[in-house]
Amino acid sequence: MKLSYLDFFGLNEDPFQTSPSTKYFYSSQEHQECLARILLTLELNNGLFVAIGDAGTGKTSLASLVMRDLLQDDNTILALIRQPRARSEFAFLQKLNDSFGVIVSGVGRRSTLMLENSLFNFIQEKALEENKRLVLIVDEAQEMTPTQLLRIRELLNLETESRKLINMIFFGQLEFLNKIRSKRFKNFRQRVAMSYVLNPLNLKDTGELIKYRLKMAGSDGTGISYTEDAIQVIHKESKGLPRDICKLGAAGLLAAFASQTNVIDADTIKVEAQSMPIR
Ligand SMILES: Nc1ncnc2c1ncn2[C@@H]1O[C@H](COP(=O)(O)OP(=O)(O)O)[C@@H](O)[C@H]1O
Ligand SMILES: [Mg+2]
Repeated sequence: MKLSYLDFFGLNEDPFQTSPSTKYFYSSQEHQECLARILLTLELNNGLFVAIGDAGTGKTSLASLVMRDLLQDDNTILALIRQPRARSEFAFLQKLNDSFGVIVSGVGRRSTLMLENSLFNFIQEKALEENKRLVLIVDEAQEMTPTQLLRIRELLNLETESRKLINMIFFGQLEFLNKIRSKRFKNFRQRVAMSYVLNPLNLKDTGELIKYRLKMAGSDGTGISYTEDAIQVIHKESKGLPRDICKLGAAGLLAAFASQTNVIDADTIKVEAQSMPIR
């Protein structure tokens, strides 16, 4: 009887699953560099950190990793906005309140001013009275409108003589930089304490990422072998983009299963890359 896909390769799970789980996150040099700067910004209480990268560079994965680390600290209050897009200013403020778990109560219709006050009060109370560290993480930051960015700046302006009341980590695509480069965002730009561009992975990290994912999926290293040439083709075809490294890695594995071999070679990857015009 033919073995199942996972059994054939000696795996417990799909190694190239796209779920945002931190289990499959390989700490490449690029991601480590970015993470180190994020942690430094938080440690120094510097305000806003911006991480920039193309789609598929691992921004959302990195955000999950930062979340996981910060959640372990009881003294930190963490808020996450996965998608800042909002229909109105009111909806955006509601989103900010929601992300911190602030429930805005009151009689009658809630106004923008009420939402703003509740958020400010919450931040002041937690940071000053309870001495908590507040961190807001925003993914897809390029979606923010000018008005929203001004709101964010107001929050970043909250500070005592000795410290900022809230730190933020933004993850966004390149357009975010273009957006805040214009003159009207000069004040906002000055609030960016540090930024980092996530670059493509190098050849070594490309191979290591694949190896790491196989290991996490239960491979003992004997059931699957990507040749060195195959890794080179994956690196070239993916341009070092983690998302595409995973897609090509997965395609190679499927093709190898179809021909019942444990070896994934360069030709296999080349064929797969050709039949994958849209990645
Ligand atoms: N460092 C990494 N290690 C393993 N897989 C990664 C890594 N970075 C990204 N990936 C994978 O690449 C895909 C895209 O990552 P994602 O975080 O969604 O990128 P982005 O948010 O920049 O578009 C996901 O399937 C993710 O699991
Ligand atoms: Mg993302």
